[in-house]
Amino acid sequence: MLLEVRDLHVEFRTRDGVVHAVNGVTCGVDAGETLAVLGESGSGKSVTAQAVMGILDTPPGRICGGQVLFRGTDLLTLKEEERRRIRGAEMAMIFQDALSALNPVMTVGDQLGEMFVVHRGMSRKAARAKAVELMDRVRIPAAGQRVGDYPHQFSGGMRQRIMIAMALALEPALIIADEPTTALDVTVQAQVMDLLAELQHEYGMGLVLITHDLGVVADVADRIAVMYAGRIVESAPVHDIYKAPAHPYTRGLLDSIPRLDRKGRELYAIKGLPPNLLAVPPGCAFHPRCPLARDVCRTDVPPLYEVSGTRTSACHFWKECLDGRAGS
Ligand SMILES: Nc1ncnc2c1ncn2[C@@H]1O[C@H](COP(=O)(O)OP(=O)(O)OP(=O)(O)O)[C@@H](O)[C@H]1O
Ligand code: SF4
Ligand SMILES: [Mg+2]
Repeated sequence: MLLEVRDLHVEFRTRDGVVHAVNGVTCGVDAGETLAVLGESGSGKSVTAQAVMGILDTPPGRICGGQVLFRGTDLLTLKEEERRRIRGAEMAMIFQDALSALNPVMTVGDQLGEMFVVHRGMSRKAARAKAVELMDRVRIPAAGQRVGDYPHQFSGGMRQRIMIAMALALEPALIIADEPTTALDVTVQAQVMDLLAELQHEYGMGLVLITHDLGVVADVADRIAVMYAGRIVESAPVHDIYKAPAHPYTRGLLDSIPRLDRKGRELYAIKGLPPNLLAVPPGCAFHPRCPLARDVCRTDVPPLYEVSGTRTSACHFWKECLDGRAGS
């Protein structure tokens, strides 16, 4: 497996206490595969991505357990210098907000070119040609003329394309995209997502796509990992999940999006609120909101049950859930 995260734990020490942001994340992505990571706001998606990339805010953040295996090597054991080399060259990240991720006082051509100067030892001139080539690749019109422009001179969608170009520059094996289209208009969102999916196929990269949007997932992802209170509670091929979720939280998420084949049915929203990560509920963290919860759920943390060779669920009653007894 290209990337394998095992039992990752991250906490933040704050004035109010310890925030348990990531509580045993286990998941992985293969080369050429797209894994969508879904979950409500605050479920730990971005923090997990930051820990994997090695860009966690430390302190207050701290990785307090687990492994991040990239091609079999545990990145958490490497020196910062080695990690920096891997970052960019072998794994890259695309952020939600290109305007704050790009350098405002450097032209996009220089920013793109810098990757080749620093990592590949190219001359400025050759690097600039590469920058234009990349801008073309992500379909920025008149790339040759716009290479000398600054980030603020581009529209939101074009800036996001530039960030995709930055991530792709060194042809990394893995890209983590954290809500790459959330800040864009709906039509632009679809274009940027299509571009990302196309490039992922072409380059054969592993792609981890963090998103709130179950709608886009069906089109582009191979697998889905559903996150709740800092854990992956279900992980499975997309089609399996859409056919029948094996975790009540996944069921709740699916039932809360409008679907053409369910026209006229009332939309179901998961009752209650996501947990306070300063005090994660004991047992199954989802129990205060779960329609299937019973006594054992309040005391025993569910392990990751193997539902099939390609599917796991952290629910004591995953079988009942698969049978459709989790509400709606
Ligand atoms: N620097 C920090 N200091 C303290 N707590 C933090 C910090 N960064 C993140 N957290 C906490 O970690 C938890 C997980 O946050 P994270 O940003 O990973 O959520 P998310 O799933 O990405 O949410 P969203 O969908 O809103 O982006 C939250 O409770 C958040 O408050
Ligand atoms: S373990 Fe219990 S509370 Fe948790 S999701 Fe399953 S049924 Fe619900
Ligand atoms: Mg986030």
